Amino acid sequence: MFRLKADGGLINRMGFNNKGVGPAAERLRHFARNRGNRQVIVGGNIGKNKDTPNESALTDYILSFRELFDAVDYFVVNVSSPNTPGLRDLQEREPLTKLLTALQKENRKQPAPKPILLKIAPDLTNGQLDDIIAIVAETGIAGVIATNTTISRAGLKTNPADVEQIGAGGVSGKPLRERSTEVIRYLHQQSGAAFPIIGVGGIFSADDAREKLNAGASLVQVYTSFIYEGPGLAKRINKALLQTSTLLK
Ligand SMILES: Cc1cc2nc3c(=O)[nH]c(=O)nc-3n(C[C@H](O)[C@H](O)[C@H](O)COP(=O)(O)O)c2cc1C
Repeated sequence: MFRLKADGGLINRMGFNNKGVGPAAERLRHFARNRGNRQVIVGGNIGKNKDTPNESALTDYILSFRELFDAVDYFVVNVSSPNTPGLRDLQEREPLTKLLTALQKENRKQPAPKPILLKIAPDLTNGQLDDIIAIVAETGIAGVIATNTTISRAGLKTNPADVEQIGAGGVSGKPLRERSTEVIRYLHQQSGAAFPIIGVGGIFSADDAREKLNAGASLVQVYTSFIYEGPGLAKRINKALLQTSTLLK
């Protein structure tokens, strides 16, 4: 992970570096047992392993879904990380419909199914976004998280030679803000507000959060700004939003 300081951004190619879904589920269950009265909503973000070919990607998603089911409140189907080879090809209409249909089938077997959201890349074309809208309707998933990091290097202030040297990975933070808002607005308008959207990408302030909410997001997330602004940021954004909450109505 590399900082693009001049841009308020990051490039990361972490991949899904972790000990696997078993230990993650166990850690989350431990956390749930020890959280007392604190209400914390936990989302399980699932993807396929780097060495799993796309033909068998479904097996990885189903396994992660089952293992995490009783440890999380909702699921995020991640088909948009640029750091796992082939992953973003799963955003195409046919494999995505298959994947989400299979996960929904698995979900509906449970006595209390959980919301499944789809996390998409900012690099999709409007045509692909139209497909996403159709697939959400067809599969009945709960909503979309927009967006993941971008593979684009356009508009960066950081010296191009430095960017080049950093190499592959997804750009997050301020350089992503406008595009991710654009994707949210497009999905919201073209779908006729048919499903909730969680907005993420370059939110550093209450104004940035408001921009996403005004574009049609129901909730927002931050990642990169935690690194630049520190964990107090969530409180600052929430307080400022509350003060102007009538604007959100
Ligand atoms: C270090 C790093 C790791 C990330 N890992 C994941 C991941 O495992 N799954 C995922 O869906 N998104 C992942 N993301 C993307 C973020 O969740 C978020 O969608 C993106 O960074 C844009 O938001 P931001 O500008 O607030 O960072 C990661 C981002 C960063 C910077």
